[in-house]
Amino acid sequence: MTNELISPLSGLRRLIETNQVEAPGDAFLNDKSAVWSPHNKIINVTPGPAFGSELVSQFASTQTRGMRGPGVAEFFTAVRHEYGKLVDMPKGGTPLFFNGSGTSATEAAAGALRTPDEVNSNKPVILTLEIGSFSTAMGNCVENLGRGVIRLKGDVGEDLPFAQCREALEKDLRDNSEGNIKMVMAPHNETGSGVTASIQKLRDLLDELKHPALLGIDGISSIGSLPLSMDQLGIDMLLGCSQKGMMCTPGIGMITLSPKALKRITECDQQMKEAGLIKGEHYLSLTRMIEAMESTALHTETPPNYAQLAVALDTLAIEGLDRVVERHADCSAIFRAAVKGAGLELVAKDINIASNAVTAIQAPEGYGEKDIQQVLNIMYNKHAVEAAAIPGYPDLGWRLCATGGIQPQHALMASIAFLKAAEEAGLPIDSDKGLFAASKTYGEVVRYHRPLPGLDMYGR
Ligand SMILES: Cc1ncc(COP(=O)(O)O)c(C=O)c1O
Repeated sequence: MTNELISPLSGLRRLIETNQVEAPGDAFLNDKSAVWSPHNKIINVTPGPAFGSELVSQFASTQTRGMRGPGVAEFFTAVRHEYGKLVDMPKGGTPLFFNGSGTSATEAAAGALRTPDEVNSNKPVILTLEIGSFSTAMGNCVENLGRGVIRLKGDVGEDLPFAQCREALEKDLRDNSEGNIKMVMAPHNETGSGVTASIQKLRDLLDELKHPALLGIDGISSIGSLPLSMDQLGIDMLLGCSQKGMMCTPGIGMITLSPKALKRITECDQQMKEAGLIKGEHYLSLTRMIEAMESTALHTETPPNYAQLAVALDTLAIEGLDRVVERHADCSAIFRAAVKGAGLELVAKDINIASNAVTAIQAPEGYGEKDIQQVLNIMYNKHAVEAAAIPGYPDLGWRLCATGGIQPQHALMASIAFLKAAEEAGLPIDSDKGLFAASKTYGEVVRYHRPLPGLDMYGR
């Protein structure tokens, strides 16, 4: 049956008439017959921009408005304040939002705390703990800003390299009893390896050694998905972004500061001023941002991002953080059941550090980048599921992620897609056992819904 195309709005007629709609260019599709699929809703299990939220998309706004008028500073301040509450920012701390992405927050943190003694010196002042591609990027950021940095590398799939860290901090205290190292930076959730690091252990180590360094934590892929309290973990700078657990589009890099961090930043800047030294930073200067917040509470914000974030914060509040965390754990339990059931291994070497936001899966022995990409291609082009490879390690495997508004039914569908695609790509897995295990776990975790009234056009 062939129908006339009647909707002038859909644009389909024009696209088809002008031959602009073709099958995807991937070579592997050439020998497969593809059908039209105008209804595809992609199930997105990449880490981010994450599986979003129906509510956040519905209330997303593209309005352009002035940003100095009545009520504007109050709105932006309220969003930043509520975000501070979400991450349990300690009393007396401050939330700073930079336009950009998580990396802008990382760069603002990495450039902070410069003092005159750093000029023409390469003594280490920052220590980074690196266990995958994103914490490696954090180390690169510090190094590229010209700071003296000790970069401690752990194995991919393992927790932070605590023994090396202890050794470096002890040596630092022997060199200078007040410590040259001003900040220790580590990822809470290494998105590249699917490992959630033990931040409490790192806090305990600093406390045990009585090392005064600030604790700077990258929460970019954990905030809004995994439990994380700045106050309980004694985090001084917490880095976040708008497009993962916060379910918005990219646009904001958040950095929340403890009162201790605020005080140190001011002291260091004072020393630089007194020495007549320029720090070599402008937009990403924490001091300038703190001053802007304390004076007008305005910089040049991205209003649509704030509008989305306000809805996202409301949805997280309505759902309840405990349930948010449980939901991500439920989805990740489905992924892990599928993977283990099929006979594959996680990248995380210990189940206790396996992330509930990112499930990283090892490709079987002897299979590499080409097979990994083949599986991702089939997942996307056949099953309408978008997953990811492992950045920095193209032969290692895949990532199925549970960040943002993902529900168990999406995790089950993504697991089915992954197993079916791996089977079709000829990987040696037992997909039936994987499917059985995933479906069993789904049955155990899935819950009755209480959708918000008014969410759809029938008011349900
Ligand atoms: C742990 C972690 N750190 C940093 C980044 C970089 O953040 P962005 O892409 O928002 O700049 C990412 C992005 O995925 C990440 O997962």
